[in-house]
Amino acid sequence: MKFIPLASPDIRPEDIQEVVSVLESGMLVQGARVADLEKNCGEFIGNENMVAVSNGTATMHLALVALGIGPGDEVIVPAFSYIATANVVELVGATPIFVDIDLPTFNIDTSKIERAITPRTKAIIPVHEFGLACDIETVIKLARKHNLFVIEDAACALGASQNGQKTGTFGDFGSFSLHPRKAISSGEGGLLACANPALAKRIQILRNHGVEMKNGKMEFVEAGFNYRMTDFQAALVDSQLKRLSKTLRYKDELAQQYQTEINHPKIILPVVPEGMIHTWQTFHVLVDASINRDQLIQHLREKGIGTNYGAQCIPEQEYYQNKYHLDCKTNYPNALFAYEQGLALPLYEKLTKKDISYIAHEINKL
Ligand SMILES: Cc1ncc(COP(=O)(O)O)c(C=O)c1O
Repeated sequence: MKFIPLASPDIRPEDIQEVVSVLESGMLVQGARVADLEKNCGEFIGNENMVAVSNGTATMHLALVALGIGPGDEVIVPAFSYIATANVVELVGATPIFVDIDLPTFNIDTSKIERAITPRTKAIIPVHEFGLACDIETVIKLARKHNLFVIEDAACALGASQNGQKTGTFGDFGSFSLHPRKAISSGEGGLLACANPALAKRIQILRNHGVEMKNGKMEFVEAGFNYRMTDFQAALVDSQLKRLSKTLRYKDELAQQYQTEINHPKIILPVVPEGMIHTWQTFHVLVDASINRDQLIQHLREKGIGTNYGAQCIPEQEYYQNKYHLDCKTNYPNALFAYEQGLALPLYEKLTKKDISYIAHEINKL
């Protein structure tokens, strides 16, 4: 029996050739190909200040450091996301303040943000979960009203938009991941869109040990990181970027097919609000509470279909429980439900419409 994995990157011969040419050049670290990627991806989303780094988590870590956020500060994050969204806040010594999500979209419930703001709040990290733009326009309005920074966690959302504007270009920073579960991948990799050119320069310095060129001489002006991307990673992803729009259109067709063909009464399909464009990094459904989701994952595996839970209820994870003791059932019921009953289905470029029909058929048979 053929096995359909949950995810599989689409690396083509022309992408491999780009990597080979970099390897043959002997330039294995950050160089011109990284600069090309920054320029090309910047043109794709509409931001002139893109900085490529070693992964998506590093982009957000750098953004928080560049904004001077640290101990004593609070940062608002959704309670349901990949763990990295909150981990970066912990890494700079600040406190993540969790806000529950809106269940139909899995994105932060903007009506609950204001009550989480205190005099210590410095920033909001809204997530465009699974590639669906959150209501970032409302987040920005709230941030302006309360004088807060916004770092968009657009890890899954390269190409998503709200009312025609691409995600990652609304906030002070927009963070993208190039992990192999994303539509284009460098293996590990990340891109940070910066609204402010001065902050983009600071990020460039911070990603490379704090080094700045002054009068043609290297000066180490602060204690930075090594968060550089290599030229062969940049070449790999830049090659895929050329077909990203086409890839996203095809993924949208597959997603529409799931929406039409899955018709099981106990499976709740994802909702895309008016004005939002979804990249479908993940096709994430909710399984009714009467069904054991983990048994369902096992059952689908036996049918040759790879699925998994989609993201974490972060305050429920051991580290956060031990530190903050938050009662998720009371405070974050939607995040907890999405964590316990959410199911990510395969959705990527290499799948055929026949694969999607097979998966939908097996789900409908439950
Ligand atoms: C919402 C979200 N934020 C952050 C990250 C971290 O990205 P990376 O794995 O590139 O560090 C991911 C990765 O999947 C993610 O889904």
